[in-house]
Amino acid sequence: MNKRFLIWVLFLTFSLCNAQNRNVKLVGGSCEGCEAIFEYQDKVLSSIDTLPLFNDNTPKLKLSGIVFEKDGITPAKNVIIYIYQTNRRGIYQTKGNEKGWARRHGFIRGWVKTNAKGEYTFFTFRPGAYPNRRAPEHIHVTIKEPSKNAYYIDDFMFEDDPLLSNSIRDELNNRGGSGIVLPKKNGQVHDVSRNLILGLNIPNYN
Ligand SMILES: [Fe+2]
Repeated sequence: MNKRFLIWVLFLTFSLCNAQNRNVKLVGGSCEGCEAIFEYQDKVLSSIDTLPLFNDNTPKLKLSGIVFEKDGITPAKNVIIYIYQTNRRGIYQTKGNEKGWARRHGFIRGWVKTNAKGEYTFFTFRPGAYPNRRAPEHIHVTIKEPSKNAYYIDDFMFEDDPLLSNSIRDELNNRGGSGIVLPKKNGQVHDVSRNLILGLNIPNYN
């Protein structure tokens, strides 16, 4: 290949990449591990996902809701939601062959992409608190909107968890809205309803 042509192609590629990066608005501050939202590999994302070990654990949870734009009214489609959690013993369970963030997040994790109505659903089970028993039970959540970088929102936490003290509640930032939920028994699963509002209490979001 002609050397001048090769340099031109490299320059063009670099310029396009930069232009793309400029179109992604940086919001939400630093977020260690938010890149894990891209680790769904060849999985085809839909608005429903079932996390590994769902069948083996109780209490089973159905986490669902609607994702809204910042106005709190307009359903937000094509938003990727990534969650990860501990097993019932409070451990981010691994198999030993994990790559990337799965080495820390473990394999009990899932991804959805909201549908045209902004809906999402995860089938999972209630996580255990960390073995030190100070931090409440929680499920981490990361969001990726089409035009923004990935950012984290408040964890799912449970209203009836005795470890969820008033001091911990006071420190929550309600990113995306409150993550404190109260599971309601519905047959074999406990329903958890949580709507999300994009950008709510997210720094640099407008
Ligand atoms: Fe955690």
